[in-house]
Amino acid sequence: MLIDTHAHLQDYADLKTILNRAADNGVEKIICIGFDLESSLTAANLARQHKEVFAVVGVHPHNASDLNEKVLDRLFQLGREEKVLAIGEIGLDYYRNLSPQEDQQKAFVAQLRLARELKKPVVIHDRDAHQEVLDTLKKEKGGINGGIMHCYSGHLPLAVELMKIGFYISFAGPVTYKNAKKTQEVAAKIPLDRMLVETDCPYLTPEPLRGKKNEPANVLYVAEKIAQLRQKSLDEIAYQTTLNAHKVFRIK
Ligand code: NI
Repeated sequence: MLIDTHAHLQDYADLKTILNRAADNGVEKIICIGFDLESSLTAANLARQHKEVFAVVGVHPHNASDLNEKVLDRLFQLGREEKVLAIGEIGLDYYRNLSPQEDQQKAFVAQLRLARELKKPVVIHDRDAHQEVLDTLKKEKGGINGGIMHCYSGHLPLAVELMKIGFYISFAGPVTYKNAKKTQEVAAKIPLDRMLVETDCPYLTPEPLRGKKNEPANVLYVAEKIAQLRQKSLDEIAYQTTLNAHKVFRIK
């Protein structure tokens, strides 16, 4: 059994088919991630409607300029629901800079504090901002209730620093790509009890399906690649990453 720990299910016309295909591939739970208020409301709704779906709510760094007191308040209310497991995805994206960096920093800190208040873990998006993300997480005790570095793209020493402050490292489709040597090295070397798998669907489709729209069923290919990199069985990777997901997201 597998858990897709990071999926955006908000945009599938035939969700029932998507969920069935996931079940057919052994994906027992799917964590649906918000990226703004509307998608967070949808994620929470989907979690209410489908027993295998759980939600994470928050404002993505791309949308950081939209975060205000009112939105924070709504996120706080959502964050109290039992099937809303964490706050995310939050963080910094200095690659695309779709919101000004100052807005991104403010939104990141405000939502780290929100998670602390709710005593829930955080799901972090970090692109081209590794050191600043690490420094902010340290300063704000971002890992105090546990955290997940989603779609990890950094190097091994950074992963070690993040694990020291309570983070789990999550791998998505890119770990299956030929040119992802650095990510594959991290996936091969970090302790198995700190590792998660995800799709980040509908984006980042893993090999051998690259080019098609991604979906939670494909987390199987991510787990298979990690099994191959670590010379372990798929069963062992599936068992341990599922256990890790239950632990960090505190799924009963
Ligand atoms: Ni995402």
